[in-house]
Amino acid sequence: MQDRFVQSIAQLPPLLAQALVPLLDDEFSGHFDAKQVEQLQRICGLQEHELLMAMLPVAAALANPPISEFYVGAIARGASGDIYMGANLELPGEALGHSVHAEQSAISHAWLLGERHITDIVVNYSPCGHCRQFINELVESQNIRIHLPEQETQPLSYYLPYAFGPEDLNITTPLLVSEAVQMKLVSEDPVVLEATHQANKSYAPYSKNYCAVTLELEDGSLYSGRYAENAAFNPSMQPMQMALTNLVRHNRQYSEIKRAVLVESAEGKISLANASLNALHDLTSVELEHVVVELEG
Ligand code: THU
Ligand code: ZN
Repeated sequence: MQDRFVQSIAQLPPLLAQALVPLLDDEFSGHFDAKQVEQLQRICGLQEHELLMAMLPVAAALANPPISEFYVGAIARGASGDIYMGANLELPGEALGHSVHAEQSAISHAWLLGERHITDIVVNYSPCGHCRQFINELVESQNIRIHLPEQETQPLSYYLPYAFGPEDLNITTPLLVSEAVQMKLVSEDPVVLEATHQANKSYAPYSKNYCAVTLELEDGSLYSGRYAENAAFNPSMQPMQMALTNLVRHNRQYSEIKRAVLVESAEGKISLANASLNALHDLTSVELEHVVVELEG
């Protein structure tokens, strides 16, 4: 079991702790498939939402909050039955606006692994206004069930009434179901190719700045993040932040970063190069490689 889970495992019901320990191996990054969830339910005799609530200390152990030292854990449940953990991330020394909230981390985790519909979100603290707005960008957002400790389960529409969302800006294919774009391939470099592939799946209906970041570590492994815009603009999740949460969920260190590539579409009305560079340079002296690519057609 990874060291970071030792304390959280001690807080779980013994049957759950026993069943989880073998799953929290070196490869574990917060994803359980539907079969594993069913098995855990059977072993513990819990309803699904009770199980996910009980597992929140494990999700919170994925956090990296050097500023607040406040550990938030979230679990997004996909329509596939798979579950995706996420936790908050703070960048030491950078503007607080660079932080990632646990809910954003869990949702981006589900998105990166191809989930197309999130039905439930379980969190250990009440989601802030910014997270409620971020969740509202998802497909069928108003019906997503929010589970909090000591609260009756309610849909997002209860927590975010009279919401402003993508449909106000005439976007009908929101986050998770938006259509992929096709960027021209400009390189045979595997890291640039991976970033391009991820940028094709990014969600940028407002700025058209389809983009993604891929981080290559010393051992050659790649961790990517896509841009996920928000109708209210400010709660958008940047690709560097998404890539960094991905890396941290996988229990990797910033010091292992060897290369960082940002691929952006030439047609975008904005660029995230400066913002990405600021976040990156807070953590490492590695230079950001910035590649601008045109869309096909
Ligand atoms: N936090 C979340 O992760 N989700 C919320 O909705 C509430 C706040 C995190 C952000 C920051 O890392 C810390 O908690 C203090 O606000
Ligand atoms: Zn939040």
